[in-house]
Amino acid sequence: MTQRVLFVCLGNICRSPAAENIMNHLLRERGLTDRILCDSAGTGGYHVGAPPDSRMSAALKEKGYLVSGRARQFEARDFQNFDLIIAMDEENYRDILRLDPQGLHRQKVKRMTAFARRHSETEVPDPYYGGQEGFNRVIALLEDACQGLLESLDV
Ligand code: 4NP
Repeated sequence: MTQRVLFVCLGNICRSPAAENIMNHLLRERGLTDRILCDSAGTGGYHVGAPPDSRMSAALKEKGYLVSGRARQFEARDFQNFDLIIAMDEENYRDILRLDPQGLHRQKVKRMTAFARRHSETEVPDPYYGGQEGFNRVIALLEDACQGLLESLDV
């Protein structure tokens, strides 16, 4: 059975598309693309339809990752369509759960940093208003967390 994973940040142009593309890279390397399907979304709607931020795309491509996707907004029906919904920071986590007031899907909602093995941060920091170094730090944290996530999945 295919497991469906949704990465969620605020704008869906920096952190969550990076997580999606890094995870897809790992899945291709391991021949698992038919077992785990990844997507990403933002809790906010400001950037709907936009490609990933050019600074994040440049940093990802520099490391050899393919970059694809267009921003979309997280919506309540995503609770039905995904097995795992992974928030980048605490604000994302709260905003996701706000769309599930009865807590029916609470168990599916996780924090990205919980999967990291080599980093102790509790949030993936928002790189949008910072410099290029912030994007590289986010990528390093996401690489760690994506590996941990893959090991935690039953494939
Ligand atoms: P993301 O980064 O949530 O990682 O996509 C952001 C993108 C845009 C904004 C904030 C964070 N913004 O305020 O427009």
